[in-house]
Amino acid sequence: MQILKSDGKGIEAAVEELKKGNVVAIPTETVYGLAANALDGEAVKKIFLAKGRPQDNPLIIHISQTEDLKKYAIPNEIAYKLAEKFWPGPLTMILPKLDCIPTEVSAGLDTVAVRMPNHPVARELIKKSGVPLAAPSANISGKPSPTSAEHVIDDFSENPYVSAVIDGGKCQCGVESTVLSLCGEEPCLLRPGFITADMLKEVIPNLKIAEAVLKELPNNEKALSPGLKHKHYAPSARTVCIKGLCENAAEYVKNDGKDKKTVICFAGEEEKFPRCKIIPYGRSNDFEELAENLFDALRKADKIENEKIYVRIPEINDELVNGILLAVYNRLLRAASFTVIDCDKAVNGLVLGITGQSGAGKGTVCKVLENKGFIHIDTDKIWHEIIDFSAPALEEIFGKITDENGKVDRKILGEKAFSSEENLKMLNSVAHKAIMAKVSEIMDENRSRGLFNFAIDGAALFEAGAKDICDFIITVTADRKSRLERVKIRDGIDDLRAEMRFAGQKSEDFYTENADFTILNDDLTALPQKIQHILAKISKK
Ligand code: TXA
Ligand code: MG
Repeated sequence: MQILKSDGKGIEAAVEELKKGNVVAIPTETVYGLAANALDGEAVKKIFLAKGRPQDNPLIIHISQTEDLKKYAIPNEIAYKLAEKFWPGPLTMILPKLDCIPTEVSAGLDTVAVRMPNHPVARELIKKSGVPLAAPSANISGKPSPTSAEHVIDDFSENPYVSAVIDGGKCQCGVESTVLSLCGEEPCLLRPGFITADMLKEVIPNLKIAEAVLKELPNNEKALSPGLKHKHYAPSARTVCIKGLCENAAEYVKNDGKDKKTVICFAGEEEKFPRCKIIPYGRSNDFEELAENLFDALRKADKIENEKIYVRIPEINDELVNGILLAVYNRLLRAASFTVIDCDKAVNGLVLGITGQSGAGKGTVCKVLENKGFIHIDTDKIWHEIIDFSAPALEEIFGKITDENGKVDRKILGEKAFSSEENLKMLNSVAHKAIMAKVSEIMDENRSRGLFNFAIDGAALFEAGAKDICDFIITVTADRKSRLERVKIRDGIDDLRAEMRFAGQKSEDFYTENADFTILNDDLTALPQKIQHILAKISKK
């Protein structure tokens, strides 16, 4: 990939490439675009190959003068009004298309997205090449959009489908253009951008905002804009948005039991998240600044080795929805797969670890807590659900433990693992890491839905490190005979196997000594009251 300057010579060289049917990354005022001749289906195909873009996601064509609009689309009066007010600039309009636009561009739709960028280099390029340029954001599909030539180079330097990038410095807006459909009964905002709903409403007071802008689409719902349904802007590590007061956000992050954390925070909060990598992206009340730096911050975070990335997100309300904050919010929601945690509430939530020996009745205690509104997370069940993903790591330790279908044979694994303390330790080292990652994911999904109380149950809570994320540990005890009977019935095993399992476990003392509270499970009917008693004590603490 050539790196070209944004001077006359650079533009000349880029035009040559475009004329040859090649792909060139170009600066625009929003983000960098991966451009090709929009009238040449073969050239456009290279864009899809370069990005790994799903075939059903159409491209925007870029023109340099409003007169060209009618050459490629069927504009109505509103389109011209909007063009007059907002072009050149970060507004894309969806209109019925003319036949000269190849299906590669429109991804088979009978509409086309058109925009006239405001960046001098982009406009010069379009003019000089004499054709409209199809250009999506110049990032690998699913990754944050590029706002500098370095970002483009990071993604495409070795990519055979991209011939060159013109280095035009940092993009001014930082988020992609506003996408507006003029094809329905009423104009509809499909993607918020720098041209805000408030600004558009001055020309089109009947503007609608597509539901998918702020909500996750159910899988079966047809997206108005295909781009809305694909995963977007996401770093590789799990990413969550965190809102609320800074001290509560800090508390939530601190208690989250992860080792490698990165916080994309507001300017001024840099000192508040100890033992985290910090990337400030702007002042909490300067939404333009946040928009400008957002993708750069996500990309910086992605270069760090992370277990989890936390992004501070401003509060949004009915008024702010019509401003530039909507664009920031929309991108962050997608980067975090719609996980937003209200830390002001999360810090008041209660995370209980329920532990004890096999058969003591942890599950029963959790049932009672469930009836009191707690979310029950059963770590043993989780392990059963995710065990097959850990098969390669387990086979490295124990040799062959999978059946003919590649699934872990639980019996064989159990026999090998419980045969010695050393083996059990090795099994646990693999299992605990996988379990805790999943637990944290489940908790965040629930918190994102407004549920903040959890009862996490598992024999191995301490070893797995769950106590780091629990506010209190409750140990459940029961006499050996009842435990043995329960395990035999529950797991369908004989005396010998049940005894073997007990032999590999920690003593009752271990569990009680490490707990904040102990419940003796000797009378089912008394259990709810015993639990209520503990909850009352906790609320006084
Ligand atoms: O600011 C921008 O718009 C940048 C720069 C390079 O111009 N381009 C950009 O393109 O962001 P891209 O492909 O990353 O996003 C285009 C969005 C996608 O969500 C796509 O689904 C939608 O516009 N789109 C394109 N054509 C459409 C159509 N005919 N109907 C509905 N949505 C369309
Ligand atoms: Mg894009």
